[in-house]
Amino acid sequence: MRSFAIAASVAALALGLAGQASADPIIIKFSHVVATDTPKGKASEKFKELAEKYTNGKVKVEVYPNSTLYKDKEELEALQLGSVQMLAPSNSKFGPLGIREFEVFDLPYILPDLKTLRKVTEGPLGAKLLKLLEPKGITGLAYWDNGFKQMSANKKLIAPADYQGVKFRIQSSRVLQAQFKALGSLPQVMAFGEVYQALQTGVVDGQENTWSNIYTQKMHEVQKYITETNHGYIGYVVIVNKKFWDDLPADIRDQLAKAMKEATDFNNAQSQKENDDALAEIKKSGKSEIIKLTSEQDEAMRKAMEPVYKDAASRVGQPLIDEFQKEAK
Ligand code: LMR
Repeated sequence: MRSFAIAASVAALALGLAGQASADPIIIKFSHVVATDTPKGKASEKFKELAEKYTNGKVKVEVYPNSTLYKDKEELEALQLGSVQMLAPSNSKFGPLGIREFEVFDLPYILPDLKTLRKVTEGPLGAKLLKLLEPKGITGLAYWDNGFKQMSANKKLIAPADYQGVKFRIQSSRVLQAQFKALGSLPQVMAFGEVYQALQTGVVDGQENTWSNIYTQKMHEVQKYITETNHGYIGYVVIVNKKFWDDLPADIRDQLAKAMKEATDFNNAQSQKENDDALAEIKKSGKSEIIKLTSEQDEAMRKAMEPVYKDAASRVGQPLIDEFQKEAK
C-alpha cells in the first residue's frame, strides 16, 4: 500500500513537472537602448506581438527599451553570456567585439538614400557581413533601418572650420572617430544612454544622430542648433545568441523567423516617417534652430570628410569599401 502511494506520488510529480515544462514559455529578453517611440522601439514591440502570436504563446518576448537593462557595451557582453537573447545594436557598435567590417556603414555620404541601403543589406554583402558574427557566438537575423544623421551643437555648424575643437560624442566606431578627426573635432566614445546628460552638463559639446533619436532623447532641448547634414547613416543588426537560436525546436525557430521577417518589413516601411515626424516635432518645439546647408556648404562638408575613406581602408579594408560602393550603385 505504502509503496503504491509512493509510486503514485512520484508519477504525479513527474506528470506535474512535464505539464509545467510544456506550459513554461521560452523567454526572449530583447534589450535595446532607444525609446519605444522610435523605429527600433516600435519594431521590437511588433516582433514581440508577432512572435507570441505565431508561437501560440510558447515564446514570450520581454522588450527592455531605453538602456533599462544594459547600456551599449554591456548588452553585447550580456548577449554572448546568454543573459539576454536578442539585441539590435547599430552597425557602429561591433568594433569592441573585434568585428570592424560593419563600420563600412559609417562612412560619410556612402549611402544617398534608404533605397540604396536596402540593395546592400538585402544583397550578398549584407549576408556575408552577418556571417562574421557567428564565430563570436552570435547569429544575425535582420537589418533594421533607422535613418540619416544630423549634427547638433550649441554653436552653428555650417562650414568644416566650425567643427574645429568641438567635443563630439560618438558611438564606438573608429570610422566615426576618423570622421570627426578629419573635421578637427574631438570625438569621445560614450554610451547612448549617457548622451543627454553629457550634452546638458557640457561634458561634450555636440553629437550626431537621427531625428527620431534626437527628439525622443530630448537632445534638442539641450542643443541650440541642429544642422541638417544627412552625412551618415544609423541602422541596426538584429542579433541573437547563437546557441539559444540553434537549440530552439525547429518549428519555433521557423515561427520566430517569420515574425522577424514581418517585423523587419514593418520597421523598414515606417522608419522614414518616424524620422520625418520627429523633425516636425523638433521644429514645432522651437527649442533648437534647424540649419539647412546650401549645396556649396554641403559640398565643402563632403570634401572635408573625404580623407575618412583612406583611413577606413586600413580598418575595414578597401575591397569591402569597393564591394559596398558597387552594390550601392
Ligand atoms: C547611438 O548610440 O547613437 C545609436 O546607435 C542609438 C541607437 O540604437 O539608435
